[in-house]
Amino acid sequence: MISSYPRTVRYVANFEKLGIPQASTWLTELELSELSFWKDSSRRSQWLAGRWIAKRLVARSSQVDILREVEILSRGADGLGKSPAVSVGGMASACRLSISHSNQAILVGIASSHARIGVDVASCVPETRSFRSHWFSDQEVKWIENDVSNRLPVAWALKESIFKACGDGSKWDPRSVELVSIDKNQVRSRIHGLDVDPLTTWVRATNQGAATAVWSNTSGQEVSLCS
Ligand SMILES: CC(C)(COP(=O)(O)OP(=O)(O)OC[C@H]1O[C@@H](n2cnc3c(N)ncnc32)[C@H](O)[C@@H]1OP(=O)(O)O)[C@@H](O)C(=O)NCCC(=O)NCCS
Repeated sequence: MISSYPRTVRYVANFEKLGIPQASTWLTELELSELSFWKDSSRRSQWLAGRWIAKRLVARSSQVDILREVEILSRGADGLGKSPAVSVGGMASACRLSISHSNQAILVGIASSHARIGVDVASCVPETRSFRSHWFSDQEVKWIENDVSNRLPVAWALKESIFKACGDGSKWDPRSVELVSIDKNQVRSRIHGLDVDPLTTWVRATNQGAATAVWSNTSGQEVSLCS
């Protein structure tokens, strides 16, 4: 099996148009068991859409035709969400994957395993002063308040993207990810007070907020697909 994982960011604005086949035809037993964790029908649909897009990206890069050969699991034994673990043909895959969903939108990022990648779609982030002062540092608030409606969702999505790309296994706390500087295509940040190497950013405005991806600057072909 030949595998190469060019960095890819795939954004789908409305997954309902994808025509996803019946789950049992393309999910593994363990994936079906993860799906059964979700009771809410819209969360189930989001989970399925994220898996459908992610598994097809992995299968294409691994030159695998059968989607059940690709397995993506993102739930720990403790029941908490975790960074997706990918295997192909029963072997751990040499890729990193990040998934986000919000309403009908799905964002998936994939890169080779020596890289870091994290994605997030932020929708309807509350525009109140109290929300900003609770979850953001003074420096972040200053940056956001230059253009609240555009910058607030970007700042929120970047924090989550950085957590997904570089999190150390601790629980998600927006305050633990600090945005130090946000330039055109690069973000500098700290997690729990420790500097993170600069990350390249991809930012897109959406109907209700923003979608962002961050990745570490390792060599490798870059591909960005949108639909
Ligand atoms: C990461 C997190 C904040 C995102 O929540 P959200 O904004 O509501 O949801 P998003 O749609 O943007 O992201 C969900 C996806 O993030 C991924 N994810 C979950 N936990 C993750 C983590 N710790 N690191 C990286 N990715 C994670 C999953 O792929 C999940 O999608 P899936 O369930 O369909 O596979 C939330 O999932 C979370 O709190 N996870 C951590 C749980 C935790 O504390 N675990 C213990 C330490 S690992």
